[in-house]
Amino acid sequence: MEKKIIEMRGIVKRFFIGSPNEIEVLKGIDLDVYEGEFLAVVGQSGSGKSTLMNIMGTLDRPTEGSYILDGINIGESKDKELSGIRNKKIGFVFQTYNLIAKTDAIKNVEVPMLYAGMGMRERHEKSRELLEMVGMSDRIHHLPEELSGGQKQRVAIARAMANDPSIILADEPTGALDSQTGRMVMDIFHELHEKHGKTIILITHSPELAQECERIITVKDGEIIGERKGGGRNASD
Ligand SMILES: Nc1ncnc2c1ncn2[C@@H]1O[C@H](COP(=O)(O)OP(=O)(O)OP(=O)(O)O)[C@@H](O)[C@H]1O
Ligand SMILES: [Mg+2]
Repeated sequence: MEKKIIEMRGIVKRFFIGSPNEIEVLKGIDLDVYEGEFLAVVGQSGSGKSTLMNIMGTLDRPTEGSYILDGINIGESKDKELSGIRNKKIGFVFQTYNLIAKTDAIKNVEVPMLYAGMGMRERHEKSRELLEMVGMSDRIHHLPEELSGGQKQRVAIARAMANDPSIILADEPTGALDSQTGRMVMDIFHELHEKHGKTIILITHSPELAQECERIITVKDGEIIGERKGGGRNASD
């Protein structure tokens, strides 16, 4: 595979630094992710997956170590620069959707484009296209509370795609969904990966879903303890 899009070396994350409660949640993570990969991250609850994801997504900074994201040294970037980098390069999908409650589907999808300074007409058009891509054309003016869990997650995926990011970070995106709805969400990720060439990093507790990815890394107590190849989309056939 070609270009490294994520390069992490010796990533350490501690919380409550300097207090008696200080804990080391990540203990020196080395990880390379290549452009266009579909990677699964698995591990027990509390092992540090979300902490790692937050650092990958530049929502948080490591205590130690270096992180290069698409050629940019994150450690040397100011917070202000980071928000712009994040908005352009990364789309986030969370277990609990994180949609804006008082705002309809299409406006939710527009938010990252608004921050990127895109004009209203273009925003609107792009949002419609993205909602169509995830099969939500008939619900564009519904509020989150008027949507099912699977529908909310599809809106969240459309929003994650808003600025055409190269990386999608998904933290337990199917965790709150029944298996059939989770399947549908997973199929959308496969499509984004195969047709749109997105790099996808998926945290999941499901061994079946992890197995569908190209590579699976296992985190335990803040360390990567294993790495193996997945079977890809048709793993279970
Ligand atoms: N902001 C924080 N401050 C203090 N401790 C934290 C913070 N965030 C996470 N932790 C601790 O770090 C450890 C790892 O948490 P993390 O959320 O990364 O686990 P996880 O692997 O995502 O678990 P789960 O599968 O339950 O989501 C936990 O012990 C947690 O209590
Ligand atoms: Mg987590």
